[in-house]
Amino acid sequence: MSVLSLLAKCRVVITFNQGLRGGRVMELKKIVDEAVKHCPTVQRVLVAHRTDNKVHMGDLDVPLEQEMAKEDPVCVPESMGSEDVLFMLYTSGSTGMPKGIVHTQAGYLLYAALTHKLVFDHRPGDIFGCVADIGWITGHSYVVYGPLCNGATSVLFESTPVYPNAGRYWETVERLKINQFYGAPTAVRLLLKYGDAWVKKYDRSSLRTLGSVGEPINCEAWEWLHRVVGDSRCTLVDTWWQTETGGICIAPRPSEEGAEILPGMAMRPFFGIVPVLMDEKGSVVEGSNVSGALCISQAWPGMARTIYGDHQRFVDAYFKAYPGYYFTGDGAHGTEGGYYQITGRMDDVINISGHRLGTAEIEDAIADHPAVPESAVIGYPHDIKGEGECPREELLPDC
Ligand code: PRX
Repeated sequence: MSVLSLLAKCRVVITFNQGLRGGRVMELKKIVDEAVKHCPTVQRVLVAHRTDNKVHMGDLDVPLEQEMAKEDPVCVPESMGSEDVLFMLYTSGSTGMPKGIVHTQAGYLLYAALTHKLVFDHRPGDIFGCVADIGWITGHSYVVYGPLCNGATSVLFESTPVYPNAGRYWETVERLKINQFYGAPTAVRLLLKYGDAWVKKYDRSSLRTLGSVGEPINCEAWEWLHRVVGDSRCTLVDTWWQTETGGICIAPRPSEEGAEILPGMAMRPFFGIVPVLMDEKGSVVEGSNVSGALCISQAWPGMARTIYGDHQRFVDAYFKAYPGYYFTGDGAHGTEGGYYQITGRMDDVINISGHRLGTAEIEDAIADHPAVPESAVIGYPHDIKGEGECPREELLPDC
């Protein structure tokens, strides 16, 4: 965190005193204190209170609630230019430090709002439930920006799908009458092992659309989500996109009359997205039932504009491999009728529970240990997480 804040030249950090997740207390303020020691640009740390426990408050720290109470409840919005920075979000690549992906005001907001409305068939009055962490691009686009641009009621989910028990998601659906439910296949694979009873215990009749994101959804998880959670009557959308794309790029569109939806396929490009598949020589692969490197051949409103502080790295990472095309880093299979099935990353990025980890970053961290001259990190197949990282006890069997 400290390195990233340093790169971003942050002046203000907002944190909770402590976080709560799955019955555990997380010492967020202590983590921030440690990071801020290495960030001379930080001038203020605003501390909001999630728990009643007291934490150490230093010279830079300000209790957020106390400061807010002094302010006028009405805040005149600031007018922004369409290409002004909206936010930056760090994500891993195959080499080097994590990349501070920059999204801008107008294009990103338009794209997040439009995809939220059309991919999920969100209608006025619906309650939208995306259970992703807000700190992930999925939370940015589909907990905060997309739904709020559309005036939707958006559910904020804290904790894990199995705390206090495996009925947590479905109890939330019943209690809040959620109409669209959006989550990651990892959670589905975990929950299906607990059996159908935890789902059936709760009324899910409010649900209309179920969405999957972040990693390939295997057929067993797709079927369970569709048949058990959705009672075989909800539309299930497998959505492919990335931090860099800002919003969903390839997905079924249930709002489309007679749309066909098949298990395990992200499906058709959203309008404005023109995918192409490339062979090893850098030529476009034509025809159906073909595979290749997934690229996008024209700009779209939600695409990232740069890597903060390093535009050349942005150009090199995304536009160099296939000149004139945005390279996603993923491979895909194109079927008849213009449908796409994502086959997985083509680079050294591993996907654990939908989270992107650069193997080079893990190798760098391991190399910091004085006893390790060299290391190589690879993912391995994992039943629930898709890919696994090596647990500590496996790495160090004798410790
Ligand atoms: O490999 C693809 C995988 O997740 C990567 C993007 O990760 P991130 O930027 O963290 O964003 C995740 C949330 C959008 C992609 O390059 N991925 C994402 N969605 C899918 C997927 N793989 C298969 N199917 C998906 N639906």
